Amino acid sequence: MEIQDAKYLISNADYAQCPAPDRAEYAFIGRSNVGKSSLINMLCNKRALAKTSSAPGKTQLINHFEVLSNAKRKWYLVDLPGYGYAKVSQSSRRRWEQMIENYIRKRENLTCLFVLVDSRHEPQKIDLSFIEQLGKWEVPFAVIFTKADKNKPGATRRHVTEFISQLKETWEEIPPFFVTSAETGEGRDLVLDYIDDLNKA
Ligand code: GTP
Ligand code: MG
Repeated sequence: MEIQDAKYLISNADYAQCPAPDRAEYAFIGRSNVGKSSLINMLCNKRALAKTSSAPGKTQLINHFEVLSNAKRKWYLVDLPGYGYAKVSQSSRRRWEQMIENYIRKRENLTCLFVLVDSRHEPQKIDLSFIEQLGKWEVPFAVIFTKADKNKPGATRRHVTEFISQLKETWEEIPPFFVTSAETGEGRDLVLDYIDDLNKA
């Protein structure tokens, strides 16, 4: 699949204010700074579509982008704020949790939630428990291991294997997973083809 156009639509704190749920939607979530906004830009081939920052906590709202791909297919990409950012107060953490939980559980056109995991680290509890929660909520998801360009040879594979084997302890079926780099474009075609398959399903 190739993307012909991508544009920013709107930002919301409330899922109920989001654009009409009339087409397939793919959202990106994961720890603050894991590379969600950068990945959206890489997939769409537009450097400044979603705002990125080297400081965690950049994305604060539910951001909708409208994408046009071949066969005149239109769908939504959604950039979400990250979790696990230490410097936020209890009250704003709770607000975040409520906003995200509502969006994830109630957004009827959410076709797949991509959970981004930093490929540089050993499996982190915060990512594993977030995925655990998705299982309880029965939200369809896939895992994306980001920043592969930053790893020494072998490290990506080791971290991915460890993460997947941790998932196997609770999941009968391994979820779809991808390795990406927003720097080199690694994984772009595979993620886009996966979205294309879901769009056609
Ligand atoms: P929040 O919105 O704060 O939750 O962060 P985010 O997950 O959207 O991360 P963002 O895309 O803003 O990227 C965070 C930092 O990581 C930026 O400095 C990016 O340039 C860098 N980054 C993101 N993806 C990659 C990647 O694949 N490779 C490298 N080398 N750097 C990356
Ligand atoms: Mg962001």
